[in-house]
Amino acid sequence: MDKTIINDAVKFVINTFKDDYSGHDYFHTLRVYKMATRIAEQENADLTIVQLAALLHDVDDIKLSPETHANKDRAVAFLRKHSISEQMIKSICDIIGEVSFRGTDSIIPKTIEGRCVQDADRLDAIGAIGIARAFAYGGSHNRIIHDPEIKPIVNMNADEYQNHISTTINHFYEKLFQLKDLMNTATAKKIAEQRDAYMKTYMSEFLDEWDGIR
Ligand code: ADP
Ligand code: NI
Repeated sequence: MDKTIINDAVKFVINTFKDDYSGHDYFHTLRVYKMATRIAEQENADLTIVQLAALLHDVDDIKLSPETHANKDRAVAFLRKHSISEQMIKSICDIIGEVSFRGTDSIIPKTIEGRCVQDADRLDAIGAIGIARAFAYGGSHNRIIHDPEIKPIVNMNADEYQNHISTTINHFYEKLFQLKDLMNTATAKKIAEQRDAYMKTYMSEFLDEWDGIR
């Protein structure tokens, strides 16, 4: 594959996310791109589709760009400008549409390329970086860190998950601790085990400090 389009996609995401402080900064996309490539190489997936879908997966995110979300206008315009075939554009857009966590309505992507990108995006939501992103997201959305009176709600469907306002600590139970078991590929499952264990250690330390035990 021509490296120019990948380099242009990197520039496009750097420009798109340069003012983001909600955990969706361009370093997130670059990490997802690298991790998706690593997983795709293990899984013998099509690297061009995986890399372009990874780089473009958040440019039409509903929270960041609600007006272009439905038709993925930004991603499509970028791909057309680079003369990508309509068939490949459809494959990439399908993957972008499948990636997001939607509680009990989350989708297992139909292609191996989609499964690689979904795993890479989810790996970036857990572990040390996942912890940082969760609190960055919480702060930028005016959510409090923790309130023991507000209990987490697990097994929400897509609508409930999207409309639910909670604390950042609850987000660990409502999403982050579920991701390990939702990984699609063997490569991602292995990485997720370690990141999930680290988050659990962090959570137990957090709650001990909260309760004055440490
Ligand atoms: P996805 O990548 O599955 O589409 P999001 O875009 O919703 O997920 O999440 C992006 C990042 O923001 C993730 O690291 C996620 O954990 C974090 N995040 C999303 N919702 C919340 C929330 N309610 N509280 C804290 N962090 C959140
Ligand atoms: Ni993402």
